[in-house]
Amino acid sequence: MAHLPALFMVCTLLTTALALPPPSGPSPSPTQACHGLTFPDNQVYATCNDLPRLSSYLYWNYYPTNQTANIAFRKTGTSTSNWIAWALNPGGQMMAGSQALVAYQDSNGSMVAYTTSVTGSPTMKPGNLSFGVSNLRAEYSDGEMIIFATLQLDSTLLSTNQVWQEGPMQGGSPGMHDISGDNILSFGTVNFATGTVTSGGGISSKALLKNVHGILNAIGWGILMPIGAILARYLKVFKSVKVFSVHPAWYDLHRACQIIAFCLGVAGWGIGIKLGSVSRGINFSKHKKIGIALLCMAAVQVGALIRKPNPNHKYRIYWTIYHHSLGYAIIILSIINIFEGFNISKGQNYWKWTYAGIIIALGAVALLLEILTWLVVIRRKRLETTNTKGIGTDGVDGVNGSVTNV
Ligand SMILES: *[C@@H]1O[C@H](CO)[C@@H](O)[C@H](O)[C@H]1NC(C)=O
Ligand SMILES: *[C@@H]1O[C@H](CO)[C@@H](O)[C@H](O)[C@H]1NC(C)=O
Ligand SMILES: *[C@@H]1O[C@H](CO)[C@@H](O)[C@H](O)[C@H]1NC(C)=O
Repeated sequence: MAHLPALFMVCTLLTTALALPPPSGPSPSPTQACHGLTFPDNQVYATCNDLPRLSSYLYWNYYPTNQTANIAFRKTGTSTSNWIAWALNPGGQMMAGSQALVAYQDSNGSMVAYTTSVTGSPTMKPGNLSFGVSNLRAEYSDGEMIIFATLQLDSTLLSTNQVWQEGPMQGGSPGMHDISGDNILSFGTVNFATGTVTSGGGISSKALLKNVHGILNAIGWGILMPIGAILARYLKVFKSVKVFSVHPAWYDLHRACQIIAFCLGVAGWGIGIKLGSVSRGINFSKHKKIGIALLCMAAVQVGALIRKPNPNHKYRIYWTIYHHSLGYAIIILSIINIFEGFNISKGQNYWKWTYAGIIIALGAVALLLEILTWLVVIRRKRLETTNTKGIGTDGVDGVNGSVTNV
């Protein structure tokens, strides 16, 4: 294993490159396009801000004496076949928990504006918000839609998260918006008192980190490692097949697969640690503990390659038992921790079920190969007994290797 130092080097570089420099979000533009707009009813707003995504603008007047704000949320480049929404969410920069104002044009041409509180998956059904809203109405003209409202704020809402959105109308009611591009980056913070907004950039880089963490770990720990184990267990039957080197093909494939998996896993793990450090106040201790245990177990597993006894050594059987049990434990724990991760990042059910599908498919393949292997074993055993000359001891070894050693 002369390549191991180089391998660790690559892993370290990959981890460092992915985990250390946090991608920075777009910085707010110094020139605001929202200025100079004349509202239809000559309403004047003291504060306005360009929102960083979906060509949207927020205007407001804030009255500290009674903590109310008159707001106008304006979206350009839209049409009457779209709905728009703007929301405050003291709970976080996300859709769940959003206290939203929604507007669209009814089929009879009048504008509809209402409030909806997003609990779990958005139903877009009218409902009361956690704070008072009055004077709610909307306007549409020439590809611009505006929602007007007066908000009764309190100290928790003065500086909080905002989310805005646009989506298509479907059969007379708001339909699902895009879940990619600007539509998942249209959030940030708003401070009604100081008049500032920030883009979701800082958090979207966290969202990006989260996705990279999830993808690297799901592929590394969750998919490649089980595939590596399947390769080892079921290709061993063809022990005499040598494709890549002097070693049997199963050995080369297994080793390559697990080394790539380990590299991805280490990189994903590093990002996970980074994520843990920027998610203050949120305690994912179970996910984190399993993750740390997994990295240690995998490191021991890789390290064990260096101290692997020769095939004929008397301790080789113990090494094999240990290597297999640790390997299976890592795979099971990895799958558990990946689902734990899905549970933490609520609202990712699509990915959860995709991953579950992959695992079920891998399980089905393993089951099929298990049956095929046993058929081959039984056939060879029969050949062995009928042909005392024993053709292909290699094969017999392979059979023993694949079945009794696991
Ligand atoms: C809040 O105060 C402002 C200015 O004092 C006033 O114009 C506005 O009507 C008040 N709003 C409410 C809801 O009382
Ligand atoms: C248009 O329809 C909405 C309900 O769908 C109704 O509230 C409103 O009064 C209608 N407007 C006109 C002008 O008919
Ligand atoms: C919303 O609030 C109003 C006024 O407080 C109340 O009459 C109404 O029942 C509430 N609606 C729901 C769905 O809770």
